[in-house]
Amino acid sequence: MALVLLRLVFLTIFLLRFIAAQQNGGSVSVGASLTATPNVKPWLSSSGEFAFGFQQVQGTDNFLLSIWYEKIPDKTIVWYPEEGQMVPTGSKVELLRESGLVLTDPLGTQVWRSGSISGVASGFMNDTGNFVMFGSNSRKLWGSFDYPADTLLPTMFMESGEGINSTISKTNFSGGQFQLRFQEDGNLVLNTRDILSGNAYDAYYISGTYDDSNSTNSGKQVIFDATGYMYILRRNGQRFDLTPRGSLPSGDYYHRATLDSDGVFRQYYFPKNPTSNTTWKVIWFVPDNICVDLSDLSSTGACGFYNVCSFDGNRPNCECPKGFSLLDPNNPSGDCKPDFTPTCDEVDSNNGRGIFDFIELQNIDWPFSDYVHMNPSNENTCKSSCLEDCFCAVAIYRDTQCWKKKLPLSNGRKVASANVRAFVKYRIGDHPLQNTTRLPGENKDRKNLIVVGSALLGTSVFVIFVLVGVICVGFFVIYKKKPRNSYPIRKAVESNLPRFTYQELVEATDGFKDELGKGAFGIVYKGVIGKKTVAVKKLNTVVHNGEKEFKTEVDTIAKTHHKNLVQLLGYCDDGEQRLLVYEYMSNGTLAMFLFGDTRPTWRQRSYIAVGIAKGLAYLHEECSTLIIHCDIKPQNILLDDYFNAKISDFGLAKLLMMNQSHTNTGIRGTKGYVAPEWFRNTPVTVKVDVYSFGVLLLEIISCRKSLVYESGEKGVAVLTDLAWDCYQEGRLDTFVENDLEAFDDYKKLATFVMVGLWCVQENSSLRPTMRKVIQMLEGGIEVAEPPCPCSLSSY
Ligand SMILES: *[C@@H]1O[C@H](CO)[C@@H](O)[C@H](O)[C@H]1NC(C)=O
Ligand SMILES: *[C@@H]1O[C@H](CO)[C@@H](O)[C@H](O)[C@H]1NC(C)=O
Ligand SMILES: *[C@@H]1O[C@H](CO)[C@@H](O)[C@H](O)[C@H]1NC(C)=O
Ligand SMILES: *[C@@H]1O[C@H](CO)[C@@H](O)[C@H](O)[C@H]1NC(C)=O
Ligand SMILES: *[C@@H]1O[C@H](CO)[C@@H](O)[C@H](O)[C@H]1NC(C)=O
Ligand SMILES: *[C@@H]1O[C@H](CO)[C@@H](O)[C@H](O)[C@H]1NC(C)=O
Repeated sequence: MALVLLRLVFLTIFLLRFIAAQQNGGSVSVGASLTATPNVKPWLSSSGEFAFGFQQVQGTDNFLLSIWYEKIPDKTIVWYPEEGQMVPTGSKVELLRESGLVLTDPLGTQVWRSGSISGVASGFMNDTGNFVMFGSNSRKLWGSFDYPADTLLPTMFMESGEGINSTISKTNFSGGQFQLRFQEDGNLVLNTRDILSGNAYDAYYISGTYDDSNSTNSGKQVIFDATGYMYILRRNGQRFDLTPRGSLPSGDYYHRATLDSDGVFRQYYFPKNPTSNTTWKVIWFVPDNICVDLSDLSSTGACGFYNVCSFDGNRPNCECPKGFSLLDPNNPSGDCKPDFTPTCDEVDSNNGRGIFDFIELQNIDWPFSDYVHMNPSNENTCKSSCLEDCFCAVAIYRDTQCWKKKLPLSNGRKVASANVRAFVKYRIGDHPLQNTTRLPGENKDRKNLIVVGSALLGTSVFVIFVLVGVICVGFFVIYKKKPRNSYPIRKAVESNLPRFTYQELVEATDGFKDELGKGAFGIVYKGVIGKKTVAVKKLNTVVHNGEKEFKTEVDTIAKTHHKNLVQLLGYCDDGEQRLLVYEYMSNGTLAMFLFGDTRPTWRQRSYIAVGIAKGLAYLHEECSTLIIHCDIKPQNILLDDYFNAKISDFGLAKLLMMNQSHTNTGIRGTKGYVAPEWFRNTPVTVKVDVYSFGVLLLEIISCRKSLVYESGEKGVAVLTDLAWDCYQEGRLDTFVENDLEAFDDYKKLATFVMVGLWCVQENSSLRPTMRKVIQMLEGGIEVAEPPCPCSLSSY
């Protein structure tokens, strides 16, 4: 019995000591490590107020190495390593004598390390929130305060030349577009920056603490003192207050100052003894009104294109105006898109009347992008001038003045004065307010139709025709709305894709004169409709499916909207004649670009490759009907004015419904790009596109064609073999033919080649999905060593 008791006592002592070792007053010994799992215990400061470790990122399975307030319920993050890269479960951070803090992913690849330091003797999580590492003689080697992320804390200061960047969003910690910098001249500024190059644009806030003629006045340091006051210390010892004097509440509070992802720099406080639902409160912020202060032509403003910003005294709110909706519903401050087609084409003898009308918006302005200013003017002249002018997208009328604006509209904002009116022009057939789901709780459609109706009545017979059409469509929409919960049924009437007659397209293409290219499905001609250049594809008439099926396919294609897909603009279905009208791509095909006289740059090529991957991922996973392209090759990728890759000819080869993704029919596709399963009796899945993409990717990397024709022989596919040989022998320089730009970007080059090799695996289940391909190409996940794609090297 006594023995048992003794054992218990020992066990208790042992346990207590064990716990003490874990909580060693904030110090962390060399060799200690943390592994990213949901319940991993962080390294705490001695008061337990700050923690260093892995925090799971909201809504994801990933973790962020960070420092946070341990005692605040939402564990507000105050620091993370530069770039804020998230890592998967199983990643590890270690404190090593020879290299300081090292973050590795589950495969052991280094993601980040704390600069080039060595001889670390210990680490320490200070109660100030600073994680420091000391050398053997207690010399400080590194401190997280020297590398701030988006937040400043008391006892921290900023020297000239230093700064912090905002995050992209609350859940994406990579560098966003806003920056706070303490310039060499002593001025503290907020500015936007180009995310890719890091170049700073114009400032939208300046402290003014600089003096060109007398530098003793200029700022020397930005100080956040231990009591919570922030100020700029001038060279002459004077203070320029940032935190207003006397504004701090008395009592025990946490303080922080964060450059938030909305571009506002705010100082916050939070009581150390909070009641149940306390949140961070703001003491001061700059700039005063970001909707107005952040406005220059190098940015879209605080909200995206078309989006309208209003500042509620606390934060900017972005809201798409009536007639527009968010491009990405998950990004409310991103771009909006019009719910109608803002085209610039036919203005008939009636000066646009009966074709266009306006949506009227109150107190909204887009102060830039005007090209005509009429002073004086009146409301009617302003409107009719815009109606008659094909370039005019919006007319702003204020105080007897009129501004005509063209697309795209940026820096949109709510304005206080009540007499600003914006008239947004739309095509009548496209009336955006027909979309009843845009007006929750209102039954405005009928009213609007009546308003439109009465405005139009009495003009001409033509107009009455249009009106009848609008009412029919309107009623259709109203009655169609009821069965909301069921899956949307595809009905021909639902698509408002313009239908052209054959004669119209004969005229548009000047009798099919200018041939742009020939493909498996038909010949493409250049044409002009209205003032817009288009590409008209005349489909081979051998396609003998019914009118209804054709319309169904066209509808499916029309419903795909993605930056990396060629947009369908209209169609023609006149008896035997079937044509599709697409947007025109000025820079031709990728084949011409890749295999032309001059080699495109590596930067352009890698950008194009990622674009194609995104377009394909959309076809495979995001659009309502699964679309397998079946014929991915450089001839089917087009390039727009800005060399954005756009996939064409999708939806023509095969349309599959979600629940029958396995099919087994005749071979489609082009030699050199087709996956082996076409030749076997195995099901064909989206992975055939992944295979073709892999071949295409290797072509893009190397600027070599996948097939090599030797005299009189049929083509032999050697590119995948060549890629594998070069990869295996570590001779990627040979593969890219000594393209120095690519070779200098070795990590990316190697990643791209490995992704290419994974995509062309003979076993389709080994090929990654396009979603995963994107993540690998963008460096979001590491690429494992690919196995040999050795297989049918010639067919
Ligand atoms: C923790 O921070 C305080 C305030 O900056 C400082 O005085 C103290 O020396 C730090 N402790 C260690 C061990 O670095
Ligand atoms: C974070 O944003 C960047 C830039 O938009 C993007 O490239 C990256 O994929 C995003 N990361 C995550 C995890 O969403
Ligand atoms: C902030 O952005 C600049 C470039 O604009 C970059 O040089 C700097 O390293 C970034 N800082 C952090 C902490 O990420
Ligand atoms: C510069 O400013 C300081 C402090 O305001 C003042 O004392 C000094 O005379 C000025 N020097 C010159 C050259 O104007
Ligand atoms: C907590 O939140 C509720 C609802 O937001 C509010 O009514 C209540 O006053 C809050 N309690 C405290 C102590 O602030
Ligand atoms: C109608 O509104 C819904 C929801 O806002 C949107 O998903 C849909 O694309 C809109 N339709 C048209 C034709 O604009």
